Amino acid sequence: MTLSWGAKALPDPVLRRLELADAQAAFELSQLIGWSHSSADWERILGWGGAGCFCLTQNDQLVATVTTAVYGTDRAWIGMVLTHPDHRRRGYARRLTQTAIDYLREQGVQRIMLDAAEAARPLYEDLGFRRLYSVEVWQGRASGLSRLAGSSAAQRRPPGRGCAGRGSVRCGTPVADPPAG
Ligand SMILES: CC(C)(COP(=O)(O)OP(=O)(O)OC[C@H]1O[C@@H](n2cnc3c(N)ncnc32)[C@H](O)[C@@H]1OP(=O)(O)O)[C@@H](O)C(=O)NCCC(=O)NCCS
Repeated sequence: MTLSWGAKALPDPVLRRLELADAQAAFELSQLIGWSHSSADWERILGWGGAGCFCLTQNDQLVATVTTAVYGTDRAWIGMVLTHPDHRRRGYARRLTQTAIDYLREQGVQRIMLDAAEAARPLYEDLGFRRLYSVEVWQGRASGLSRLAGSSAAQRRPPGRGCAGRGSVRCGTPVADPPAG
């Protein structure tokens, strides 16, 4: 017997494609967690990704996203893995990232890459991604770039709290078995 008290249980999230028409809602979700992408950025990313972008919705509200960009059959990139703060630790990012991997596998992609924020690294490693190298994300005012070199005005963004870079570790995983030897 299952018992509950207090708040009504939420309906199961619905998995569907993330469409161009979702750009504004996705933008608002990314704003909520402090990413700097504009709605035009989202439109561009969703345009690249086509049918390979997915989301989870609850009561018709966007609660988690993932996008892909395919470069021929050689490689593809997974990005915009984000879950609404009120909906975390429920397996949403895992489900969407796996959906993206399955989609890319169906497209015959040989290698999948992504940038991993520290919080998401255990998830990606669990899904088979391996660390390639680290990426530093810097932030400064574009208007002052000429004066930034060597000055303290440029602030290094702490790993894992990124906007466009979102993370400090670049991961890749071969979808197909690597050739012997
Ligand atoms: C990282 C993020 C996408 C995880 O979303 P989520 O839906 O809560 O993740 P899941 O519930 O699918 O968790 C999957 C695994 O991720 C790991 N994980 C998730 N949140 C974590 C956290 N705060 N700290 C450490 N590990 C975490 C765990 O290994 C978890 O496995 P478990 O189920 O065994 O606990 C979410 O915290 C988020 O949107 N963060 C801000 C945006 C971001 O950094 N995105 C990643 C870009 S690379």
